[in-house]
Amino acid sequence: MASFVTSHSKSLSGSIRVPGDKSISHRSIMLGSIATGTTRVSGFLQGEDSLATLNAFKEMGVSIERKGSDVIIQGVGMYGLKMPTNSLNLGNSGTSIRLMSGLLSAQSFNSELCGDKSLSKRPMGRVIEPLRQMGADISGPNSMPPLSINGGKTLSAIEYTLPVASAQIKSCILLAGLYSKGSTTVIENGISRDHTERMLRGFGYEVQTSPNKISIEGGGSLKACNIEVPSDISSAAFFMVAACISDDADIILEAVNINPTRTGVIDILKLMGGNVELSNERVDAGELIADIRVRSSNLKGIQIPKKLVPLAIDEFPAIFIAASCANGETLLTGAKELRVKESDRIQVMADGLTSLGIINHVLEDGIRIVGGKFKEQTAPIESHHDHRISMAFAIASVSSDSDIKIEGVDNVKTSFPNFIALANSIGMSITESA
Ligand code: S3P
Repeated sequence: MASFVTSHSKSLSGSIRVPGDKSISHRSIMLGSIATGTTRVSGFLQGEDSLATLNAFKEMGVSIERKGSDVIIQGVGMYGLKMPTNSLNLGNSGTSIRLMSGLLSAQSFNSELCGDKSLSKRPMGRVIEPLRQMGADISGPNSMPPLSINGGKTLSAIEYTLPVASAQIKSCILLAGLYSKGSTTVIENGISRDHTERMLRGFGYEVQTSPNKISIEGGGSLKACNIEVPSDISSAAFFMVAACISDDADIILEAVNINPTRTGVIDILKLMGGNVELSNERVDAGELIADIRVRSSNLKGIQIPKKLVPLAIDEFPAIFIAASCANGETLLTGAKELRVKESDRIQVMADGLTSLGIINHVLEDGIRIVGGKFKEQTAPIESHHDHRISMAFAIASVSSDSDIKIEGVDNVKTSFPNFIALANSIGMSITESA
């Protein structure tokens, strides 16, 4: 198991481009595979999660060629996927398993979806339940992976109200809905990322949206298109926080996706007094992008507005580090979903912060963090198979006088393979040992 040792950085500067968006990369492979024609993807995230999706579709007979971050997919059409000979191993990736369970429930063949230790503990009842309502035959032990799907079922459209704000459940249902008779509608009580809806339209598939309702008519087809994957705001977030908590920082994060369903971290950092400026805003392939300049900031603790929680759901490990360096207390509530991510991000972050001398109080659906100064760690941080825990504590070192050791960091490769190189290029000091 690899570990990081990270040391204090005097200053951070430079202009960097973080890798492609993970959510968009997954969807480019899924939709490109079932489209008709050749889809060319540039800026594809070469992380283990998106590569797990790519390999799974190869195992289902799709010809996919990859040269670095350029991917060419020869779409097989809506009914061209082949039965995989083995269980499809989706590693650490919740997005792969939940979205693919929708798509594969509608195929004529049987399939099995499995993953690593972390994925095998994540709740799948949230997708099994609506898929069964649509007529799918899908199950897993205690509603967890491995998921077994008996294909050959005719699915029917449903109207389904999401029990939690979740793009993965929404997308799973929409992908099954592509193959269902009639109009499938998903009703949301909170905003979740809308990359599936945007990309379906990019592939020429009509999607009806009103503020909290998304509908598609089954039985259509997708036409191949070209996709430029913008930089992932979830990866950029680590450097946004690093710059805010540094005594001397001025960095630019280039061409970051600022899809309005994903920008909670920017709003939260700004509310905390973060020196974050957007420029050069433009639209590329249906997604909004901008350059983000972040400078050293005097952060203050805040009560995080509940409406921003789903818009920053993946960025809380980094935001907790910002809160630890802020003046005063930060309170997060309404974030129970954090307990079922790659790890229980409330408890795992709380344990790590405690070992760095930051006072915090864990709540059922959030945390209260008392801003202060990182102290010499009492024990190495354990990532619990969670890439964002590893990276969050790596950036904490920017404002710590002592080194921070984080164990079990191999998982960083799932979403951000060149994290260390980029971090060190702007002045951070991270070393990895096997
Ligand atoms: C994702 C949706 C989010 C997010 C995950 C990626 C997606 O999960 O946390 O990292 O690509 O659809 P939920 O939809 O479960 O909130």
